[in-house]
Amino acid sequence: MLKHKIAVLVSGSGTNLQAILDKAAAGELPHVHIALVIADNPAAYALTRAHQANIPTAIVCRKQFSQQEQFEQQLLTVLAQNNIELIVLAGFLAILSGNFVQHYPKRILNIHPSLIPSFCGKGYYGLKVHQAALAYGVKLTGATVHFVNEIPDGGEIISQKAVEILPGDTPEQLQKRVMEQAEWQLLPAAIESVCTNLP
Ligand code: GRF
Repeated sequence: MLKHKIAVLVSGSGTNLQAILDKAAAGELPHVHIALVIADNPAAYALTRAHQANIPTAIVCRKQFSQQEQFEQQLLTVLAQNNIELIVLAGFLAILSGNFVQHYPKRILNIHPSLIPSFCGKGYYGLKVHQAALAYGVKLTGATVHFVNEIPDGGEIISQKAVEILPGDTPEQLQKRVMEQAEWQLLPAAIESVCTNLP
């Protein structure tokens, strides 16, 4: 089976990374080789998860560079050195410009914790997404996996899963339910599906 090399880009706790690692270990991602985990934050717990799974890691911090362009050039260098074919943004908080994205057309995936086009775009990240869904009063939310283009959360949608909002939910409770019921299944499945169709 031809496996395609992916890099998972992370900033935080890395529960989505863990879901990918677990599915791969269970043999459910036969077309995927998790070749590298890149963090933009040396304290990201996601790095510990990668080490525990014996996945090579790299750290590329925006703060180390005066210009966005230099930061992105370093990311591109590390990705090229590792022959990465598909980039997965799994809670990666650094902004990537349209220029960066053009190097990997239809080869960057992102997971967003809402049903796009609701509660997405600039400023909608982390708990803010769930706070906005609760404030609006929607009864269903969920998660979306999409290709990344130059528009924040605006690329072609690959898959979505709806999750119920329950009376009295806090943003934290909702975030946990969206992860458990949607994100952790949706992202690994989308990666396998995209890799299956890569040349
Ligand atoms: C997830 O909610 C994901 O949808 C969003 O950032 C969060 C990352 O969480 N893009 P984790 O680091 O995978 O635990």
